[in-house]
Amino acid sequence: MIRNFLCLKQKRTLFLLIISLIIFFFYYNIHLKSQQQQLFIPRLRINHEKLLNQNLTFKKVSIAYYTTSYLIRTDSHTKIFNKNLEEICEILDPEDYPLADSVFVNIVDFTRFPKSYRHLHQSQLWIFHSEESPRNSYRTVNMKNIVELDDWFNLTSTFRPESDFHIKYRGYRIKPNIGKLLQVKLNINLNQTIYSTSDIFHNTSSIYLNTLSSILHRELLNRQNVLLNICPYTCNQPLPSHAIQALQPYLNEIKPKVLNRNIVYIAWFVSNCDTHSRREDYVNKLRSQKGIHIDIYGNCKSMYHSHIIPIQCQKGTPNCTEKTISNYRFYLSFENSKCDTYITEKYWIQGTNGYAIPIVLGAKKEQYERIVVPNSYIHVDDFLTVEDLANELHRLNQNDTEFMKYLQWTQLYDVSVDYSPASIIDMHSTLCFLGHYQYLHSMKEENQQITYGMKTIRNIFHMTNMHLSNFNWTTAKTNLIRISQFYNPTVNCWDMDYPSILKQIYNHLFTWWKLF
Ligand SMILES: *[C@@H]1O[C@H](CO)[C@@H](O)[C@H](O)[C@H]1NC(C)=O
Ligand SMILES: *[C@@H]1O[C@H](CO)[C@@H](O)[C@H](O)[C@H]1NC(C)=O
Ligand SMILES: *[C@@H]1O[C@H](CO)[C@@H](O)[C@H](O)[C@H]1NC(C)=O
Ligand SMILES: *[C@@H]1O[C@H](CO)[C@@H](O)[C@H](O)[C@H]1NC(C)=O
Ligand SMILES: *[C@@H]1O[C@H](CO)[C@@H](O)[C@H](O)[C@H]1NC(C)=O
Ligand SMILES: *[C@@H]1O[C@H](CO)[C@@H](O)[C@H](O)[C@H]1NC(C)=O
Ligand SMILES: *[C@@H]1O[C@H](CO)[C@@H](O)[C@H](O)[C@H]1NC(C)=O
Repeated sequence: MIRNFLCLKQKRTLFLLIISLIIFFFYYNIHLKSQQQQLFIPRLRINHEKLLNQNLTFKKVSIAYYTTSYLIRTDSHTKIFNKNLEEICEILDPEDYPLADSVFVNIVDFTRFPKSYRHLHQSQLWIFHSEESPRNSYRTVNMKNIVELDDWFNLTSTFRPESDFHIKYRGYRIKPNIGKLLQVKLNINLNQTIYSTSDIFHNTSSIYLNTLSSILHRELLNRQNVLLNICPYTCNQPLPSHAIQALQPYLNEIKPKVLNRNIVYIAWFVSNCDTHSRREDYVNKLRSQKGIHIDIYGNCKSMYHSHIIPIQCQKGTPNCTEKTISNYRFYLSFENSKCDTYITEKYWIQGTNGYAIPIVLGAKKEQYERIVVPNSYIHVDDFLTVEDLANELHRLNQNDTEFMKYLQWTQLYDVSVDYSPASIIDMHSTLCFLGHYQYLHSMKEENQQITYGMKTIRNIFHMTNMHLSNFNWTTAKTNLIRISQFYNPTVNCWDMDYPSILKQIYNHLFTWWKLF
């Protein structure tokens, strides 16, 4: 009889297969729908009125911010600038991009621009923007031929520190009390350079130059105050090791939360279940190690799975994620792709909670060393096998002195979005300053006021450590950018291509099933 024909085990597998297929199509539909909702189709309209009214003696730099991702729309009603800059720059509607001095483009929207466009509008500055890994960036828009992006862009905004705008969800600074302690007790001085702002030139015939130089003067002072206020010592630069050494007697011991010396409790928040980095395979192996317990939160969580450590807050309430993570000794900051310097909020937001040590997988060790808070993480590449990592976690779980070495940074540094250079001089202000710099540079005559304007703009960037790698201050021109070299999975990544549907089903059945 048929009923006896399938043994229990086979029936279970069949059942699982059907359930997985249903879940799969469900996911896909939701995914596609949410993508469709996000699109708004811009009209290509030329605003002649605007062109005619443009005040040619008074140059306002205009910026179009073209993105359809995350349902963001930045248009002419958006008050993006601080008051100072509103007088010398403006934001246009995204549809008016042909009129703008600079166009900031999210890569997901690139396919919307006619191929011939760029050739006819060479004087614009185009900024390439992506908040995804090179692997995921092009997959979202199904873009195969990355070479098409070559020679379109003048500046870049990505996770790579070589970008003009290095996207970092957070930055770090030396804590003010630590800086003071070093200065007062140990005579180690870490003060910021203060820029002289005495040389200001008034009284020329040009309204433009007079307005611009007084605004730049104010900007330099304001930004210097902001910077000295948020980073009285340095931002994103580690303390010299001799200073850390000297500080030791003055630091209070921090007491870690002890849960269980024999079981290592690890938390993982995850929403993407099939990844290029195959982090799910790694977790699967780590979870099968003796005395390792991983609680999984988020979309990939099985309905049968309950957390050993109960959550004490409602999902979505303020600081719930942080509170939850603080109940664990370790946290998995595993990226979905393994690409150069691709370090996201998984480290910067969840990973730097100050209680659970982040275990990182994604970019290479030396790249973490260069970018993130020193000694704040455990990198999986330091361990030949998953067993080795498990042993190390047990060792740290049993010895608080060793465990606390990874949290010592919380005594020395603060972490916040305000400390990253790209937040101190936001994108719009940067494009505003660059536009005026180019304009000043193009002026044929030379006078003190022009020189002053250019010098002040450079100082503003220098002060905040924003390097604009592709902009040449001498020529006011940009390097030729080959995106196919700069942001290309075949060049920058060493993970796997996106799994096929069959592979994904297999993954759900044989990896995720085992995880619960
Ligand atoms: C041009 O700009 C100057 C300075 O802001 C202003 O006084 C003048 O009214 C403007 N002219 C027009 C036509 O907008
Ligand atoms: C460093 O700056 C603080 C205030 O900003 C000042 O009081 C102190 O004298 C400065 N120290 C040195 C050595 O310049
Ligand atoms: C600047 O001011 C001085 C006197 O204060 C005057 O002699 C000179 O003509 C002015 N220059 C311009 C360009 O307005
Ligand atoms: C959330 O955490 C931040 C930083 O730790 C803190 O300043 C804020 O007060 C917290 N908010 C709530 C509602 O607990
Ligand atoms: C913990 O590690 C420290 C070195 O950091 C060592 O001196 C100490 O003996 C260890 N304690 C135990 C119980 O193993
Ligand atoms: C900027 O351009 C000048 C002139 O072409 C060149 O000599 C200089 O090396 C460039 N600077 C950088 C940083 O590339
Ligand atoms: C911006 O890039 C375009 C296309 O590569 C180029 O023609 C243009 O000269 C660049 N602009 C500047 C200011 O370098």
